[in-house]
Amino acid sequence: MSRLRGRFKKAADDLVNDYTVSIGFDGRLYRHDIQGSIAHAKMLALQGIISQEDSDLIVKGLTSIQKEIEKGKLEFKTELEDIHMHIESRLFELIGDTAGKLHTARSRNDQVALDLRLYARETILLTLWKLRTLQKAIVDQAEEYKEVIMPAYTHLQRAQPVLLAHHLLAYFEMFNRDAERFYDCVRRVDVLPLGSGAVTGAPYPLDRGFVARELGFSRVSENSLDAVSDRDFVIEFQAAASITMMHLSRLAEEMVLWSSTEFGFLELDDAYTTGSSLMPQKKNPDVAELARGKTGRVYGNLVGILTVMKGLPLAYNRDMQEDKESFFDTSDTLLNTLNVFVGMVQTMRFNVECLQRGGHEGHMLATDIADYLVSKGLPFREAHEIVGGLVCHVVGQGKNLQELSLEEYHSFSPVFDDDVYSITADSAVAARNAIGGTSPDQVEVQLARARAIVENES
Ligand code: ARG
Repeated sequence: MSRLRGRFKKAADDLVNDYTVSIGFDGRLYRHDIQGSIAHAKMLALQGIISQEDSDLIVKGLTSIQKEIEKGKLEFKTELEDIHMHIESRLFELIGDTAGKLHTARSRNDQVALDLRLYARETILLTLWKLRTLQKAIVDQAEEYKEVIMPAYTHLQRAQPVLLAHHLLAYFEMFNRDAERFYDCVRRVDVLPLGSGAVTGAPYPLDRGFVARELGFSRVSENSLDAVSDRDFVIEFQAAASITMMHLSRLAEEMVLWSSTEFGFLELDDAYTTGSSLMPQKKNPDVAELARGKTGRVYGNLVGILTVMKGLPLAYNRDMQEDKESFFDTSDTLLNTLNVFVGMVQTMRFNVECLQRGGHEGHMLATDIADYLVSKGLPFREAHEIVGGLVCHVVGQGKNLQELSLEEYHSFSPVFDDDVYSITADSAVAARNAIGGTSPDQVEVQLARARAIVENES
């Protein structure tokens, strides 16, 4: 770090270098750093702050450094601390002292904020694309199994018959809200911090609008102190990622449960399961389990960055270097999880017979029988009481509600008639025809809307 050592009588202790170094993780910002530096160098020349030749030389040097890094030819060294210093130092080697002009009107504080915003924007766009692909896989499955009736659960107890498609589309809704959150998050990422200097702005006639346009930002930051110390966009990303992981984890949990022998609803494709080293019969849903587990570390990353930021005085503090590892960890975990879920959802097969058997189990029609009594003029509370007694009776006899004779029904209420036998899982499902219900008509409406959303953006 000799170039920053003017103020110092001796070099930093090796332990200090080891402690403060960030190249091991911020190296992945090289492309964004170079992209930002090129825009900055062009602007410096346009504004007459450096000459056009110097700017051209700098841009050429930066472009070849990018190629070197991509070919693995630039060695990362602890003494050079971070990616910004590595690139600058290599620029000195390539073009000599002109390299020193690049950092005019710039600090690593606004530079690193810029790099991270460029990286976050890319990650979010990639996340949105993956989310849409997963949503499409869900719609395809819902479409394929749209006639299948299964049990809906509350408290993990069988509750009412529902269409499998309706259940699957609940996940579509969750991922749709996730996409909305990422769209919203990207609006606040979309602000150029460069030009804020170390803390108070730059004493040069900068054209920040030009740099923003070059880098595809729609706004420039309004306050230099805020711009160099704002990591809200990282926190928002971590929060949106945590919620998405929570949804993936809930889906994972149902995959684990449903593929158990006890449920037998679902068969995950061999390619998305693993075997046991000991028990030859096992086919384990490890991918789903790992997604459930990794959700914990993503939450940890959110709490981590919130805690890093909570006590910081304005403006930049080195604590903020801690924003990156957890950010990269979350973005990698999220993208990898989405990637593997797309394939897992696309290839999973349902055991229709098992689902249907569960869906037609009689006690789940209890609510519909109560509603039937209501249609005959009984108050709902009274109807609920009567049907509760009926269920108690059939449970004792090991029967289903539909298996009772009319006499047995009459012993509970004289209001029952032959038409009580027309209550079936199909009629129960069809009856729920208000917006958002599980009737085939409503599910068609949902499917059409879902299809339009995924097709609009692919
Ligand atoms: N590696 C630093 C970070 O990630 C870059 C900014 C360093 N700025 C400074 N004044 N030390 O935050």
